[in-house]
Amino acid sequence: MIRPRASMPGLSGMRVAAGALMNLKKLKKHITMNATSRLFAAAAFSVLAACSEGGQTPRSSSLRSEPVAPVAAARVDDPELVELGRKLYFDPRLSKSGFISCNSCHNLSMGGSDNLKSSIGHNWSKGPINAPTVLNSSMNLAQFWDGRAKDLQEQAGGPIANPGEMAFTHKLAVDMLLSIPAYVDEFREVFGAEGIDIKKVTKAIAAFEETLVTPGSRFDFWLKGDDRALSAEELEGYQLFKSSGCTACHNGPLFGGNSYQKMGVIEPYSAKSPAEGRSAVTGRDADRFNFKVPTLRNVELTYPYFHDGEAETLTEAVEVMGRIQLGRTYSESDNRKIVAFLKTLTGKQPEIMLPLLPPSSDSTPRPTPFE
Ligand code: HEC
Ligand code: HEC
Repeated sequence: MIRPRASMPGLSGMRVAAGALMNLKKLKKHITMNATSRLFAAAAFSVLAACSEGGQTPRSSSLRSEPVAPVAAARVDDPELVELGRKLYFDPRLSKSGFISCNSCHNLSMGGSDNLKSSIGHNWSKGPINAPTVLNSSMNLAQFWDGRAKDLQEQAGGPIANPGEMAFTHKLAVDMLLSIPAYVDEFREVFGAEGIDIKKVTKAIAAFEETLVTPGSRFDFWLKGDDRALSAEELEGYQLFKSSGCTACHNGPLFGGNSYQKMGVIEPYSAKSPAEGRSAVTGRDADRFNFKVPTLRNVELTYPYFHDGEAETLTEAVEVMGRIQLGRTYSESDNRKIVAFLKTLTGKQPEIMLPLLPPSSDSTPRPTPFE
């Protein structure tokens, strides 16, 4: 059941919704979508139209009909492959310094992010862009802010060889693994054949990442019909989020991750980083400053926000989004409601045991952290 009228915006809320509809019409023109996001956004637009026409009719079904959807639990098909991936994800010997692992920048104790404006890579180098979370990343339409990697396996090869991140090469990483007998055995058992190559390494890491999903957020309980899962304030926050048009871009199970959108639709955004966005991949000027819409799942944990990490708090991120994407200025109390709602998207975090990594052998190349 959708909570009835008590929680619907009052008259002034309706007027705002009608104003938002105007902006949304403008917004619609800017939006480029793939099939799924089009579906969800269509639902978002029609919900908005219904709101501005005087409220929704309560519907009864166990899964509420909304432009967003719950996160499903991970399905593990190959536990041995996942287990090998878990080791590699935490193994700092895949870096030149012997000190940086995937978990250094995508810390699974901190929402799969590093909570830094930009990451710290090899030799304390400053990364060009904020590190997105790895949580739920398997559901993204592509990986990276500009979508330059088509999936998690393709992505995982990137950081190992990136001079500003792990600063290794694929050959050195594979040679390192080949020098450790326990890894050689484990790769043989998992892949049923002798040998280690970078494809097997990235396949295992990707399989582990696919298990890093966060079902069980309070919001998902609400979506599945539990009226008591959200407070009145949180629910009002969600209604505002939807009626102002945030769901035009932040929809689907991830509340994002399924389209590239302009940062600064109504008002330009002056970024503190040189990143160009999607145009770096497509070469098309029209894609300049389009970024993959980030997921809002676990957003409470993944501060700071935006590709340049310039918004330190959710309050600030909501203020900027309202203003530059939708032409809306929220009152302090509306902003607080939206933030309260966003915090209900924190799901059950994957409980990961720290893996015990096999020791290096006498022939394992030694790390060179200060070169
Ligand atoms: C030095 C910090 C650093 C390390 C180490 C690192 N990453 Fe990242 N990761 C980043 C940054 C920064 C980005 C965003 C880069 C971009 O979009 O251009 C990113 C992006 C990603 C993404 C894309 C997420 C999305 O929503 O687009 C995934 C997945 C990911 N990293 C996984 C990994 C894995 C697996 C490893 C280990 C093999 C790893 N990372 C190592 C900093 C790091
Ligand atoms: C036109 C599409 C669009 C609309 C509408 C939109 N967003 Fe966004 N949102 C984006 C994009 C694109 C980014 C990433 C921009 C960047 O980092 O440069 C983003 C980023 C965010 C972030 C930061 C997430 C992170 O991890 O960095 C939050 C929070 C957010 N949006 C909330 C909202 C809220 C709340 C609304 C409604 C007031 C909204 N958005 C409306 C496209 C949109």
